[in-house]
Amino acid sequence: MSPLEEIKRLRNEINAHNHNYYVLNNPTVSDRDFDAMMRELQQLEAEHPEAFDPLSPTQRVGSDLTKGFTQVRHVYPMLSLGNTYSVGEVDEFIGRVQSALGQKDVTIVGEMKYDGTSISLIYEHGRLVRAVTRGDGEKGDDVTENVKTIRSIPLQLQGSGYPDMFEIRGEIVMPWEAFDRLNREREINDEPLFANPRNAASGTIKMLNPAEVAHRGLDAYFYYLLGENLPADNHYDNLQAARRWGFKVSDIMTRLHSIEEVDNFISFWDTERKRLPVATDGLVFKVNSLRQQLNLGYTAKSPRWAIAFKFQAERALTRLRFVSFEVGRTGVITPVANLEPVLLSGTIVKRASLHNADIIRSLDIHNDDMLYVEKGGEIIPKITGVELSERRHGSAEVQFVHDCPACGTPLVREPGEAAWVCPNKYHCPPQIAGRIEHFVARRAMNIDGIGEETVGQLMAMGLVKDIADLYELNYTVLTSLDRFAEKSAQRLLAGLEASRAVPFERVVFALSIPFVGEIVARRLARSLRNIDALMGATVEQLVTIDEIGDKIAESVVAFFAEPVNRELVERLRGYGLTMSMPEEEKEAGSDLLAGMTIVISGTFAHHSRDEYKAIIEANGGKNAGSISKKTTFILAGENMGPAKLEKAQSLGVRIVDETEFLKMLDDTPSAPTPEGEALTLF
Ligand code: IVH
Repeated sequence: MSPLEEIKRLRNEINAHNHNYYVLNNPTVSDRDFDAMMRELQQLEAEHPEAFDPLSPTQRVGSDLTKGFTQVRHVYPMLSLGNTYSVGEVDEFIGRVQSALGQKDVTIVGEMKYDGTSISLIYEHGRLVRAVTRGDGEKGDDVTENVKTIRSIPLQLQGSGYPDMFEIRGEIVMPWEAFDRLNREREINDEPLFANPRNAASGTIKMLNPAEVAHRGLDAYFYYLLGENLPADNHYDNLQAARRWGFKVSDIMTRLHSIEEVDNFISFWDTERKRLPVATDGLVFKVNSLRQQLNLGYTAKSPRWAIAFKFQAERALTRLRFVSFEVGRTGVITPVANLEPVLLSGTIVKRASLHNADIIRSLDIHNDDMLYVEKGGEIIPKITGVELSERRHGSAEVQFVHDCPACGTPLVREPGEAAWVCPNKYHCPPQIAGRIEHFVARRAMNIDGIGEETVGQLMAMGLVKDIADLYELNYTVLTSLDRFAEKSAQRLLAGLEASRAVPFERVVFALSIPFVGEIVARRLARSLRNIDALMGATVEQLVTIDEIGDKIAESVVAFFAEPVNRELVERLRGYGLTMSMPEEEKEAGSDLLAGMTIVISGTFAHHSRDEYKAIIEANGGKNAGSISKKTTFILAGENMGPAKLEKAQSLGVRIVDETEFLKMLDDTPSAPTPEGEALTLF
């Protein structure tokens, strides 16, 4: 077989494996064999630039940063659906359809309404040519590069019988599992959480970095085929054909022949949907026959041949007992509605965040009000409104506090920010407690034997006023605490002792520098190597580190400009905490790369780009910024751009991936690292 034929064969085989895995949930190859095939294809493609194809499965990892999106006009405008919360209105819709068509014999297709963001894909000759968001319905954003990273979307169709050109519409969703993982990751990095998978999906598909999109675990369901020469004269069969071409079409799609069948479909899925792996917000009913659809036509906004039935978010009405104002680790004040306990979607709700002062004002909450609490697709219960008919006469509006409820310091609000903040960072007890709890947390210093309660006790007794005081604790002091047995004291002391060996990058994370989450801490530590370099770094220096922007850089500099923080670091250093990265990496130098000029491109899983620069130099190599004839090879990460790839190929420069490179140096990327646990998250 010629190399070009081999490339074609591998692409087809990988496409089929992707389809089996991501669409049919039925893997037919081991990960190991799949990776081997992928590497073989990458290698062959690198050797044969003439076979470059933007739709090759090797191109799904996301290319270079996009510079924004181009607006594209939809071939057929993307209308929305008429919707209702009432089964009666769905029945009326069926009645209307039947009388408009003058016949009772109308087949209706019942489907799930997936709760994500809609997408329109254009295929020509079986290949994906464009993916466009809904936008304003007339024009949307071209997000093709991002959509290509969604593994369940076919780049090249399978089988036959598809029109030369057609459009297919569907919903891009973030399955619950990916959503939970993303939010866990954001929590660790001090980033705001997504309220629901819909926001997460629409936020992700509009990201400017396709390589990041590729990591977020999006999926897509398709529900509408448009174009000339469609395979069938009805919606249902067209979607079955689309499924054969490789699209993920929901199995929840039933042909219904009477109002009774429609009502049964609703009552069944109203509860069953909770077991699905993705968020849904209703059902959609569509007239099956395309001829009948044509006869029914459209209103200005939506088709007359379809209706959405929306599930009622579970809602309860309960009385507000009082609003408490809680102070977080960063000093942000969160108002919390404390409620008369009420049962909602199987759990008892007693508290719900009111987020900030603006939300209290827009909901116009008064003392003692009866409030509506909803749980819908949101993870946390949400206050959605006030029952005015139950308002007590003369009750006053809930007032946001002016002073910190914990320390009495007047609150401040940055221009343009919604949050009120207590500026008394170093003496406000809940802020201190929050920082201590963060310091001892598993992902930070991982100090066993101390939790929220013990921190509270130690602070109340004046034994601990900051994180460094923890290292002053001793056996006698600890066993004198209420309910603190010998064993607990020993455990805590052992935990403190062990924490001295916690790697520097986690010490940086444990310090609670605003905007420095786990990942940022790791980057700072690995690139600056020790605490003195970190404390002395300027904004200009910090922003040269991969993925460190102005906001983080300024925050780091401001943190270390405060004498209290410098003193704290000195004390921690005195107690023997790890304040630098081990030197092995540097010492582990060799002349394995002597005489080689290496260009680094893309993003990597095992080390940052800065670290690879250091590794190249430590092993006698030279790192260069651009590809030329002198380049020995390119160390290519995940999202090497097609332009660079083409240049490399035209100059015949070899491309080496991360694993191969580490093998050259005899590193073992699979060996567990202290942060291995965190890495598997991403
Ligand atoms: S049909 C002209 N079917 O819901 C018909 N839409 O409220 C177009 N959606 O914009 C839509 N699941 O984003 C249809 N099975 C389904 C759907 C669905 C989710 C979304 C879609 C649409 C919105 C309408």
